[in-house]
Amino acid sequence: MSASARTMTRQEIEAACGGIDLPRPPAGMHDVGDGDFDAIGREFLWHLVNHAGLESGHRVLDIGCGVGRLAIPLTAYLDPARGSYVGFDVAAEAIWWCQGTIAGQHPNFNFRTVDLLHALYNPDGKLDPQSVEFSVEAGSIDMAAAISVFTHLPPNVTAHYLRQVRRCLAADGRFLCTAFFLDEGVRQRLRAGKCRIPFRADEPAFWQEGHAEYPGAAIAIDLEWFLAMARREGLELARPIIHGHWPDDTGGEGFQDMCVLKPSRADLPGDEG
Ligand SMILES: C[S@@+](CC[C@H](N)C(=O)[O-])C[C@H]1O[C@@H](n2cnc3c(N)ncnc32)[C@H](O)[C@@H]1O
Repeated sequence: MSASARTMTRQEIEAACGGIDLPRPPAGMHDVGDGDFDAIGREFLWHLVNHAGLESGHRVLDIGCGVGRLAIPLTAYLDPARGSYVGFDVAAEAIWWCQGTIAGQHPNFNFRTVDLLHALYNPDGKLDPQSVEFSVEAGSIDMAAAISVFTHLPPNVTAHYLRQVRRCLAADGRFLCTAFFLDEGVRQRLRAGKCRIPFRADEPAFWQEGHAEYPGAAIAIDLEWFLAMARREGLELARPIIHGHWPDDTGGEGFQDMCVLKPSRADLPGDEG
């Protein structure tokens, strides 16, 4: 995060986004979960600015961008001359809509379909997500985001995506992602039996499908395992984990847990810190 990084109030985000003159995706085109499409997009813009240091001149990578929920508010925030956005997803129709509608008006935005197999979102996908290389240059991204994506990916793919993120990030880049993290506190709350997603508190495995009949609909992952994978790939926490209220609707800053990672200092050239 640079010294010039600044925070924004929610009112400032609302004011900045108030003038957005873009249609919204047709209802039912692509499922990105419940809730107010605009409000959630703006909420994540706020998180990116305030928790991860997003700046208007940043080069943004949106992993699993869906149907532009984050991209739409970003059109009001990124500087058209200095800032840029690349989003990719397995959902061809959603990307087609984003490319035509959002990139059509904002040439610094670009959307790509990658035909990766996903049991729910792209069951006929031809490519293995565990061997995909994100099509951006190494070190070229200031801010990467994966909003509600690791909550749908098995851990081998999540680990591979962490490696790809590290490759893409600039030395002072940041990566904001959401997840359903399992730790002892969460397991205790799950044991109370109030969780709206049927994760099993005492499952010994380090990850779990939330809905056995819908693979990929909701995936939880052990926090320590996730952080160990991040470390292995040269990423470390840029700030403490922000817990969501998904286990039992109490506390938390949003629904899912949130994590901001940055390249490990030990991993950076010429930095022994
Ligand atoms: C819950 S949606 C969230 C979409 C978007 N990030 C948002 O917040 O609106 C999950 C997204 O992950 C995408 N997805 C599934 N498998 C993926 C993969 N292997 N790589 C990237 N995206 C994937 C889905 O197509 C879907 O758009």
